[in-house]
Amino acid sequence: MSAHETTFPPDFTFGVATAAYQVEGGIENDWAEWERAGKLKDPHQRCDRAVDHWNRYEEDYGLALDVGATAFRVSLEWARIEPERGRVDGAVLEAYRERLLRMKARGLRPVVTLHHFTHPTWFHRDTPWHRPESVEAFRAYARVCAPLFKGLDALVISLNEPMVLLLGGYLQGLIPPGIADGPKTMAALENMVRAHVAAREELLAVLGRVELGISQNMLAFAPDRWWHPMDRALVRLGAQAYNHAFHEALVSGRLRVNMPGIGSTRVDVPGARDSCEFIGMNYYTRAHLRFIPRPPFIDFKYRDTRGRGLTDIGWELWPEGFGQILGELGRYGLPVWVTENGVDDRDGQRRPSYLHTHLQQVLAARARGLDVRGYLYWSLLDNFEWLEGWGPRFGLYHVDFETLERRPTPACRYFKEIATTRRLVP
Ligand code: NOJ
Repeated sequence: MSAHETTFPPDFTFGVATAAYQVEGGIENDWAEWERAGKLKDPHQRCDRAVDHWNRYEEDYGLALDVGATAFRVSLEWARIEPERGRVDGAVLEAYRERLLRMKARGLRPVVTLHHFTHPTWFHRDTPWHRPESVEAFRAYARVCAPLFKGLDALVISLNEPMVLLLGGYLQGLIPPGIADGPKTMAALENMVRAHVAAREELLAVLGRVELGISQNMLAFAPDRWWHPMDRALVRLGAQAYNHAFHEALVSGRLRVNMPGIGSTRVDVPGARDSCEFIGMNYYTRAHLRFIPRPPFIDFKYRDTRGRGLTDIGWELWPEGFGQILGELGRYGLPVWVTENGVDDRDGQRRPSYLHTHLQQVLAARARGLDVRGYLYWSLLDNFEWLEGWGPRFGLYHVDFETLERRPTPACRYFKEIATTRRLVP
């Protein structure tokens, strides 16, 4: 790789990303319950039919192909597959298999997440993540999913953004299961590492080989007060715990976290060493951390430090952080997949330049020798954005939430040009 690399090689993958609950529609799970309990920012919103991808998947594959994508990230909905504990819905498995086969037949490499934030409603009642039985529950689920991957050459993601689930669902109580407890968060973290290992064992038993990883949300961090030693310490500890602890465990076998207000651990997880084939990274923004002298000891905010404006949700546009973290990923010595990157941009005007500045960072990281294999844009379509509901629009395609009609935003042409010419056009 030359230091002046300006093009993406032919084997670099451009793709798009989605997740089951956010797009499929008609799913009953822990999030649907959460919504009914009025826990979204707007308590009256519901995900409900989402954007009906369950019925429109062929159309959506076509939209991905139209922007030059050659990979399509989806997730499997555990609640559909195992609606009651131990009862597997064979028809749903067949439907997922059919979808993945069609995806592949149409020229899209399947990138498949087993767990993207949501759970069957029985899960938190019977085996929440802080209890050791959660690992066996996830193992059983992975076992029934394994045959779906036969002959697909899929990239498989066991867990999407486990740190986001842990902090939001076990430490802050903002998302299901709504627990706010440091020791439980730490126990759940360790169990999620074990669950990844268990899923890997099941996939290998059926498939012989697998290209498996996790997708980790990675944030750039800065001290809120550059002169404050505690803010600076939090940046260091936060980057280790939030961005790296999980992958470090999957590479070295040792889980190492030390976060004030959450807990600290240093434990060898059996089977975790060398348990992923790639590093999956989701990158969006940068957070400024501030120490506060009472639990939870950390506060954070997003700031418009460069006058670029914030995104609609209020996130800083900070491509520099993307480059910085890509640089840090070199330490793992594994291929890297950007499994999500994108911007919530209601009128679609900002997205082309977002793509440009972030793909520049990918090229620069490759020029420095990092083996980045692919870039999956979040998201193909506007969709249901968790606590934020139907407000933010991340889609390359705009979706009319009444008629469900999909319409290209200006970024579609831009994405296609890059994906097909392999050049970063200005
Ligand atoms: C990461 C999550 O994986 C995805 O579900 C979410 O919609 C995007 N980030 C945007 O927040």
